[in-house]
Amino acid sequence: MAMADTFVLFGATGDLAKRMLFPSLYFLHAEGFLDDDVRILAAARSPRSNEEFRAEVASWCCERADGAKQDVVDAFVARIHYLAIDVTTPEGYDELAAKIRENGKGKEVVFYLSTSPSIFGAVCQGLKSHGLSEPPHRIVVEKPIGYDLESNIRINDTVAEAFSEERTFRIDHYLGKETVQNLIALRFGNRIFEPLWNSQTVESVQISIAETLGAEGRGGYYDEYGAMRDMMQNHLLQLLCLVAMEPPSSLNAEAIRNEKVKVLRSLGPITAENVEARTVRGQYKEGFDPDGGKAASYRDDVENPKSETETYVAVAADVRNWRWAGVPFYLETGKRMAERKTHVVIAFKPVPHSIFGDDASPNELHIVLQPEERITLQIMNKRPGISAEGMPLQELPLNLSLSEATNGQRRRIAYEQLILDALTNNPSLFVQRDEQEAAWKWIDAIAKAWAERGMEPKPYRSGSNGPSAKHVLTERNGHSWYE
Ligand code: BG6
Repeated sequence: MAMADTFVLFGATGDLAKRMLFPSLYFLHAEGFLDDDVRILAAARSPRSNEEFRAEVASWCCERADGAKQDVVDAFVARIHYLAIDVTTPEGYDELAAKIRENGKGKEVVFYLSTSPSIFGAVCQGLKSHGLSEPPHRIVVEKPIGYDLESNIRINDTVAEAFSEERTFRIDHYLGKETVQNLIALRFGNRIFEPLWNSQTVESVQISIAETLGAEGRGGYYDEYGAMRDMMQNHLLQLLCLVAMEPPSSLNAEAIRNEKVKVLRSLGPITAENVEARTVRGQYKEGFDPDGGKAASYRDDVENPKSETETYVAVAADVRNWRWAGVPFYLETGKRMAERKTHVVIAFKPVPHSIFGDDASPNELHIVLQPEERITLQIMNKRPGISAEGMPLQELPLNLSLSEATNGQRRRIAYEQLILDALTNNPSLFVQRDEQEAAWKWIDAIAKAWAERGMEPKPYRSGSNGPSAKHVLTERNGHSWYE
């Protein structure tokens, strides 16, 4: 697979670069995925020497990679060149362009914008004016790509002035997670699930992303966005798409993304008329962290005593098409919850006629992404032993533990696959513009309905499973949340 020869990272001293991007690049290097000639140009504003920056990166990588060998780390950081530039001035680009083209390099460049979207425009213009936005160069952009549909369109327009759609890679890091990709493998690599994957057999679908962390340390951003825009608009809706989409004709990027956008466009609108019955907003109050320590309230965490931002959101969504008509999709995400857990539960309908009385519980397929990666199918079995009364049943899991199946191999950082895909020009796991616009349209309508109905977030204790009002959402349909 041909690979870009230069990876330019804007925002190279930021938190994401430190925690995720450099360690991912390091693992790609250490495991032989990077061609020998790939250079990493690290751009940021603050002055540092190349040596200082390489030493910093080496420490970030060693922190993440247990037992990293010094010679491997040295060879990795030797690929890195630090550039202290101001990307809002033309001079910054003169220096960057010269470095990119040094020694006849820079034939194929990936620009990765790990910066605030407020400077996407300046960067794209700067690259364009220096002839750096022509094919085959491409750009990777990180969220938040907008606060609503209007700002999303504005940001995407700015990027599109320099980079065409097929050369714009929008990251949703959930798509880089092993188990998320496994959803595609599970659905379309097996014959047995697909015939059951519809409203005739499926009773409901639940997708939950629960985090134990609060919003401490990212107050400004989070307080403006909240759980709906930070998590639901992107990660949860992407998971929903992978669960609900029609089989794509191939693994090709267009084929997959076109199916996803159809799902997003089929989402039933949530408006002022149904918003109270279909959504719950919550905000964490004081409570406990998973270790039993005291946890502050959200308002204290973000130092905004009047904040009305939601840190929890649940939505009963519906996908209005032939396959899914009438099946509720319960989506939920929250911070400072009891445990860190991301899972998708496909709850099947009961057998049409039970010869076992009330003993036969409906099957459930649990796809657990976090904390461990596991797929479990709950099935009914005969309870072992003899019985004087009929045949008692018990529910047992058919369990596929991915960590056991991968022989305890290291758990990859989601960004590893995505960076490799950007370098090799494979956009399948990136989000296209239409998808984002369809998602924002649906989210905007909910935000508007909340405002119209004056729906304030309901309090929930840190360390709990979210506001109790969430149960009304499922109980209305005779369902309950899997916790
Ligand atoms: C990010 C959100 O996109 O995803 C964060 O901005 C959130 O608020 C994070 O904590 C969750 O990602 P992960 O991979 O830790 O589940």
